[in-house]
Amino acid sequence: MFTLPQKESRMTTACPDSDSIQGLASNKGDGLERECSRKPDQKPLKFYGVGDPAAVLPSSSPYLSSRGSVIKWFWDSAEEGYRTYHMDEYDEDKNPSVILLSPLCPQLSQSDMLHVEPALLQYPDWRGHLFLREEVARFLSFYCRSPAPLKPENVVVLNGCASLFSALAMVLCEAGEAFLIPAPYYGAITQHVYLYGNVRLVCVYLDSEVTGLETRPFQLTVEKLEMALQGANSEGVKVKGLILINPQNPLGDVYSPGELQEYLEFAKRHELHVMVDEVYMLSVFEESSGYRSVLSLERLPDPQRTHVMWATSKDFGMSGLRFGTLYTENRAVATAVASLCRYHGLSGLVQYQMAQLLRDHDWINQVYLPENHARLKAAHTYVSEDLRALGIPFVSHGAGFFIWVDLRKYLPEATFEEEELLWRRFLENKVLLSFGKAFECKEPGWFRLVFSDKTHRLRLGMQRVRQVLQGQPQLADGAPPRQIQEPRGPHR
Ligand SMILES: Cc1ncc(COP(=O)(O)O)c(C=O)c1O
Repeated sequence: MFTLPQKESRMTTACPDSDSIQGLASNKGDGLERECSRKPDQKPLKFYGVGDPAAVLPSSSPYLSSRGSVIKWFWDSAEEGYRTYHMDEYDEDKNPSVILLSPLCPQLSQSDMLHVEPALLQYPDWRGHLFLREEVARFLSFYCRSPAPLKPENVVVLNGCASLFSALAMVLCEAGEAFLIPAPYYGAITQHVYLYGNVRLVCVYLDSEVTGLETRPFQLTVEKLEMALQGANSEGVKVKGLILINPQNPLGDVYSPGELQEYLEFAKRHELHVMVDEVYMLSVFEESSGYRSVLSLERLPDPQRTHVMWATSKDFGMSGLRFGTLYTENRAVATAVASLCRYHGLSGLVQYQMAQLLRDHDWINQVYLPENHARLKAAHTYVSEDLRALGIPFVSHGAGFFIWVDLRKYLPEATFEEEELLWRRFLENKVLLSFGKAFECKEPGWFRLVFSDKTHRLRLGMQRVRQVLQGQPQLADGAPPRQIQEPRGPHR
């Protein structure tokens, strides 16, 4: 959620979306069991979908290739909310920064952070300077709790996870091939794998229905993966890999070690690569969520096809610095990605800074993470209590910066058109949420609400959410309750 200034050109609060700070955990599908509005869409959902970004066929420009037109279309269509926000940005004492940045800035501006020596100004080893890869390997060994020390030679550093998705798509797939991805998912990945690599995504659609005591809303199962894979194969689409985001964006979900193992075994059976995006690894603010990095597993079923991604954009609130890293035991993959780092590499000076930052475990453990988690937890508590008071069900698991909110009862009809209309009403009221369709959610009416912000801005943002919803007709109270329940059994 971004809260935008209300008056004239001033916008107010913001719940910065992806790259901000963070807040609490209730768990599971809070309030989903109470949700009572109207009958859910009765049509059975298709359980998978093969994406075809070119099918949108944008109007072409005489100056652009057909690829260029598709690429431009992504920019035009995907950025409306952010453009609106940036054109009219909240300015509180000339400081629009998000909370996460404040404890970090002093660290990055310390005198030992700026270091210039000739070696840092030359073409580097494209995998990244050895001193940085050594530091990344130590950092990941410690924070991912790997059973054995991770190796610098398996590390490649580059400018963010977005580039890494793009690079992996290029080196793992032929044009037109695909990756499986559980949906809803962080929608920009569609572009990351498509714009250069021409790789498509096959959505494994998850739904909110809870089918048993041990299940939770939007739960990924091997059965769903199998069905989606078969469906794609039957359409002649070659699937080369599976993308897992853990902790998940937008669900904030966390896979248990057992689930991870099952998904990896599935991939191994079908000789699929697995790209595990752990960009929110250190933004788990509820211990009870049981988060474990894939690198902590005692044994990876298929180490040569398991590739782990992490970046500083979320966990350190530094999305503008552009730092990401790949960890893979597969030398061919690491080398091919490194070869693309000629276009995605980091300046030597930034590599030096990153090494300094990542080596300071005392500061990270004693200052940064406790502070960050406490703020995330407080912000999450604030927003989730407000949502409960409003009778709005939501899904949240104690990780990430967002809550997945069920506003289906506020849609006069269960359509994506109505979902977008509601989103526009929020935007007109100067609050920016993200609608479910942007994450390929199949049920219209879900919204991602980012809570990683200061309390007074959250308060303002929530007021505006409330105003919009109060003006929205609610579906009949007498309608039968949805068959959605908060899971009662142990949450993994
Ligand atoms: C799950 C996920 N992966 C990757 C990214 C992009 O990361 P980066 O900024 O490092 O490119 C984001 C950004 O929001 C994200 O949410």
